[in-house]
Amino acid sequence: MADLKVTVIDHPLIQHKLTIMRMKETGTKDFRQLLEEISMLMTYEITRDFPLKDVEIETPMGKCTGKQLAASRKVCVVPILRAGLGLQSGVVNMIPTAKVGHIGLYRDPETLKPVEYYCKMPSDIAERTMLVVDPMLATGGSASAAITMLKEKGAKNLILMCLVAAPEGVQVINEDHPDVPVYVAAVDDHLNDHGYIVPGLGDAGDRIFGTI
Ligand code: PRP
Ligand code: URA
Repeated sequence: MADLKVTVIDHPLIQHKLTIMRMKETGTKDFRQLLEEISMLMTYEITRDFPLKDVEIETPMGKCTGKQLAASRKVCVVPILRAGLGLQSGVVNMIPTAKVGHIGLYRDPETLKPVEYYCKMPSDIAERTMLVVDPMLATGGSASAAITMLKEKGAKNLILMCLVAAPEGVQVINEDHPDVPVYVAAVDDHLNDHGYIVPGLGDAGDRIFGTI
């Protein structure tokens, strides 16, 4: 496999929480809470290089120059339904002014190809950084299709944030969308014959929503 272009966010808090999420005995409540916490921590790391602008402000003690995020870094978070919803609130907690667009895709269990069923975006996506979120990057089909849909609607600046990836999925995004940086908490070993990540954490949507 060619060299993968991916940033693994290996912060100890993230790795600790991810290990608990992987455990088969971890229930829905804890799984959901840990996913929200990890998405906040990952957002913190991903936004580390966002540009700032100077702003003149006045504190109770006098005038000074402060820093604020530059307008070019207005964010729209895009959860891929349904499991991506588990990452949405963590991003919005960290970036309260973020807009939210939703893309509905599910993976056909036979073909493993993504099937689109919903798309609702804000009107100004060309001016925003589109942060596409989904816990699992397996074959890469769903995330690649979501990014293509966003580009067709005018998105120019995209980031993909996933919890766990298979090497195969990262490679698909690198090939289909070389302009899109990929951030994950872990790149696992391989995909099984059913397109599940091994060791992974099972079916993320089912574990978030308790539909097992
Ligand atoms: C899961 C996951 C991704 C997709 C990853 O969703 O949340 O969207 O599979 O697989 P891929 O990289 O091979 O496309 P799923 O289709 O199970 O739907 P759900 O979120 O509704 O549970
Ligand atoms: N979707 C999941 O939820 N888990 C996997 O391992 C692969 C796809």
